[in-house]
Amino acid sequence: MTRNKRIGVFDSGFGGLHVLRSIVRALPHYDYLYLGDTARAPYGDRPQETIYSYTKQAVDFLFKQDCGLVIIACNTSSSEALRKIQDEYGSKKKVLGVLIPAAEVAVQKTKNKRIGIIATRSTVASKKFVRELTKLDPHLHIFQKACPLLVPLVESGEQNSKITEAILRRYLKPLLSKKIDTLILGCTHYGILEKKIRHIIGPSVTIVSEATVVPKKLEQYLAKHVEIEKTLGKHSGIHFFTTDRTDRFQILGSKLFGKKIRVEKAVID
Ligand code: DGL
Repeated sequence: MTRNKRIGVFDSGFGGLHVLRSIVRALPHYDYLYLGDTARAPYGDRPQETIYSYTKQAVDFLFKQDCGLVIIACNTSSSEALRKIQDEYGSKKKVLGVLIPAAEVAVQKTKNKRIGIIATRSTVASKKFVRELTKLDPHLHIFQKACPLLVPLVESGEQNSKITEAILRRYLKPLLSKKIDTLILGCTHYGILEKKIRHIIGPSVTIVSEATVVPKKLEQYLAKHVEIEKTLGKHSGIHFFTTDRTDRFQILGSKLFGKKIRVEKAVID
């Protein structure tokens, strides 16, 4: 069998780049294809059927580009579209999400069983994290906070600004008052704010970030699913696609990967 398939990573915009970087650091020898739906991001305030149809188009695009498996590195899409897409593809094509791996790690980490989640409005409203966490441990106390301003701030390059810090403080305060000992960053974009979040919540709260969780889970998945692993190519590196040309994507991507990245425009429908 020829090894020519790539690992596809999808996000609504920039946030998944952070997850991709960690995956590439952990598993540098594989070929990757990243798609950011920058023309239609943010997804976080959109209705479920729109999130599903955008995500389906993106995943179809990645499989057409010869991906051997696709990771939906977007919690909003993982909450609102993943299950349906997995059912539609059946066992023929593998699509993985980021939400269950984060929930599993949070349950392992918490000692006082009080877990906070910050995420987009859609992810919070879907209650997907709450359901997955409760399946793993029905005795948990779970507190969610929608943070709708964070994605636009990150996408517009404001991650280090004072405004972002003030808004983060406001979002995190009600969770800290519930005495959580574990905080799930339930949106890939928030990984970019992890240092600021750490500064605000202090050292005693464990942060569960998908950038840390997903590479380990992927490695375990590939070790278990040799039928997929043996199809994966190891020669062509990382290809980046977006649905819109944005300088910001290229700047952030180049900064994260330490070299100028080339971004192609994806036509998806
Ligand atoms: N990156 C997406 C997530 O993880 C959210 C960004 C958006 O609203 O498009 O939930």
